[in-house]
Amino acid sequence: MKNVNYYNKDFKLYISENEIKEIVKVLAEKINNDYTLIKKEEICIVSILNGSFVFVADLIRRLNFDHKVDFVKIKSYDGIESKGEVEHILELGESAKGKHILVIEDIVDTGLTIEAFIDKIKSQKPASLKVCALLSKPEVNNDIIPIDYLGKEIPPCFVIGYGLDISGMGRHLRDIYQLEA
Ligand code: IMP
Repeated sequence: MKNVNYYNKDFKLYISENEIKEIVKVLAEKINNDYTLIKKEEICIVSILNGSFVFVADLIRRLNFDHKVDFVKIKSYDGIESKGEVEHILELGESAKGKHILVIEDIVDTGLTIEAFIDKIKSQKPASLKVCALLSKPEVNNDIIPIDYLGKEIPPCFVIGYGLDISGMGRHLRDIYQLEA
């Protein structure tokens, strides 16, 4: 499919399924290299819902070390202050204390969502804390948090597919599509 349309908005093919597969493979190789050294200790992959569920499902099946997987859900609000407010709708099942936590985000836009989650996890004193994101929009000035494993930088456009949505639609698409200007 070269184009899709949701809510009268046209999206054009942007990152193909094959390119996504290659990005996920490269990310998994890097993560495998780093985490092999600590695999005897407890490692927990934390997927930030909703958007990262497709990405995390593909990524973890390429990891060659044992780990737990947990899910959190965070809702961002535009507050009066520049940082905005976030609501933790679904929290970690177990404390992060003493664990090696690898947070998985689909896309980092302003970075506020992941920043809020990282602040919360840090207070639980994990053994280590790293971030993996499939996509990032660096031109949005989201460098408030370091991304240890980044799939691809994209311009500040709106994208859907491979878990990413527009008002709940488009998550099932195998490729990633960009909103046409
Ligand atoms: P941030 O807090 O501004 O970094 O926004 C992060 C969240 O906003 C992501 O986890 C996505 O759920 C959503 N988001 C940001 N950009 C896009 C996009 O281009 N398409 C779909 N969802 C997006």
